[in-house]
Amino acid sequence: MAEEGTIILNVDGDDVRARRGQTILEAARNAGIYIPSLCYYPGLEPLPRVMPDQACQLCVVEADGNVVLSCIKTATEGMIVRTETPKVRELRRKHALAILIRQPSDICPETRG
Ligand code: FES
Repeated sequence: MAEEGTIILNVDGDDVRARRGQTILEAARNAGIYIPSLCYYPGLEPLPRVMPDQACQLCVVEADGNVVLSCIKTATEGMIVRTETPKVRELRRKHALAILIRQPSDICPETRG
C-alpha cells in the first residue's frame, strides 16, 4: 500500500514508488531504471507538448499495453510499464533513425538516400 501522496507502479517487473503526478520517466529515473530520453530536461516543459515535431520520442514505453511517451504520461497507481518490449525497441530504432536523418548530410552522410 502506497503512502499518502505516493503511488506504486510496476516497471519491468519491479514495484516502483512514485509521487502522485510524476511522469513514468520521472518515476523510472528515481528508481534507477533507464529509459532513453534525449530531449527531456528536468524542470522544462516536455518537448512533445511544446514542439511535438521536434520531440525525440525515444522515451516510448508500453504502459498498460499502450505505447506512450514516458516523458509526458503520468504514472498511475498499479500501472504496468514495460520499457524493453520488441515493439518499443523497434519504435526507438525508427525514431533514432528519424533524428539522424534530420541532421545535415556532412555530419551524418550515411543516413542520406
Ligand atoms: S524524452 Fe524526448 S519525447 Fe520524451
